[in-house]
Amino acid sequence: MYGLIHSAARQMVLDQLGAEAWRRVLQRAGFDDLHFINGEVYSDEATFALIGAIVDENGIASDTLLFEFGRYWIGFVATSAFANAMAATGDDFVSFVDGLDRLHRSVRTAMPQARMPSFEVLSAIGGNVEILYVSERAGLDNFVAGLLQGLLEKFGARGAISYARADDGVVFSIALEARAAA
Ligand code: HEM
Repeated sequence: MYGLIHSAARQMVLDQLGAEAWRRVLQRAGFDDLHFINGEVYSDEATFALIGAIVDENGIASDTLLFEFGRYWIGFVATSAFANAMAATGDDFVSFVDGLDRLHRSVRTAMPQARMPSFEVLSAIGGNVEILYVSERAGLDNFVAGLLQGLLEKFGARGAISYARADDGVVFSIALEARAAA
């Protein structure tokens, strides 16, 4: 995966645990450099080794870490070089998720080797939203749940997120909380 992802992980560890913790994480994961290059591609094995090392440093479950990293990513990219692309993707939760593939396609011009996932809003009826997530990678479902949680928060919404495997991917169901009448 592109180093932008690793840079976000680095910033999260620095924010939450500090510089010494980040040094230990790199050592555990077998990296020498303190920084990652945003535009360079690292193997998925290296990415998962980094996540594993953060889990060990943190002492939390990997599902929890992936969820928290998903939430963190939403704030991270909103202040990155891709802030404009984020801002142009949608004005509410459902239209944003609907625009995610377009967003990733626009990112691909800067990162042509990216293997992007796809998201499809299957239905959005009466506060219940169903989203199909398709990826060639396994093990990122809790990351996606955290991303969706981060998007809900971005739009000032709340909802319960659950997911289940389907034949063609993973279906995320979000039961949006009704907003209090103004
Ligand atoms: C401007 C904002 C964004 C940028 C620059 C971006 C960029 C990327 C990049 C570079 C990758 C890795 C692909 C690779 O290296 O092979 C990726 C993967 C991914 N992105 Fe985004 N992304 C953005 C926003 C989002 C948002 C808002 C979501 C919310 C659902 C999302 C969901 C994912 C997921 C789940 C993956 C994991 C790849 C997989 O499932 O195989 N991204 N993105």
